Amino acid sequence: MSFECRALKAEVGFGDASRTVLNNVSFDVAKGEFVSIMGRSGVGKTTLLRIMAGLMGPAADSTVMFEGRPIDGPPEGLSLVFQDYTSALLPWRTVAANVGLPLEGHMAKSERNRRVMATLEMVGLADRANDRPPQLSGGMQQRVQLARALASRPTALLMDEPFGALDALTKSDLEDELLGLVAGTGITVVFVTHDIDEAVYLSDRVIVLGGTPAGVAADVVVNSPRPRSQIQTRESAEFLAARSRVHEVIFGTR
Ligand SMILES: Nc1ncnc2c1ncn2[C@@H]1O[C@H](COP(=O)(O)OP(=O)(O)OP(=O)(O)O)[C@@H](O)[C@H]1O
Ligand SMILES: [Mg+2]
Repeated sequence: MSFECRALKAEVGFGDASRTVLNNVSFDVAKGEFVSIMGRSGVGKTTLLRIMAGLMGPAADSTVMFEGRPIDGPPEGLSLVFQDYTSALLPWRTVAANVGLPLEGHMAKSERNRRVMATLEMVGLADRANDRPPQLSGGMQQRVQLARALASRPTALLMDEPFGALDALTKSDLEDELLGLVAGTGITVVFVTHDIDEAVYLSDRVIVLGGTPAGVAADVVVNSPRPRSQIQTRESAEFLAARSRVHEVIFGTR
């Protein structure tokens, strides 16, 4: 199992302002599975991802496990991708130096360079290695962030609305690239998005959070076969069934 969340409780704020955001959230993510997390704005999706990334702790009486061990800090083998690529990348460093950042101090320079170029190749940006991020389009910058997350060869990726700021065409290109990368590496993905179609298109399961404090309102299995395609998958009966189910649950939660 990649992640095990059992009766997870999360509190935000301090002292009198402290509030329980998530309560009794239970789900597992198997190795190699692609799971999306959905729910209304403010429901606690980013909070859940931060706990899974080891950036904040759950409430005292609950734990989340990554590969069989309780998470008590950022675990080895796990990478994060955020929505805001402009603030996630260092504008004064080249694309290659941004991608190589998490590898610094972990391997010899020659091995690092080799790894960086191989990862840039995977995301189709080998020819932009010496550019700085501001010279690239939004979609390219988000690819650089993805490459940086993949450079350490993680076993799991946590993504918080990674394609939210991109135009529709760039977004579908990146969705397909992500699916290709995931199929090639067997990596586990937990993906937060506001877009129901995107969640269903990418995922094996869509978990919907709802309620105050929020729990798992639904855990919807997407039965569409892989590899998926933007045209056939989105017209298939399995896709449409999962999409209406997710829609129904989200609009039924307050
Ligand atoms: N550090 C904090 N201090 C106080 N409240 C916080 C803190 N972080 C988050 N919250 C509150 O916790 C709740 C959940 O926030 P979170 O960012 O997890 O929601 P979200 O589901 O990711 O929303 P969105 O879809 O808008 O990104 C919100 O009501 C938010 O105001
Ligand atoms: Mg959020």
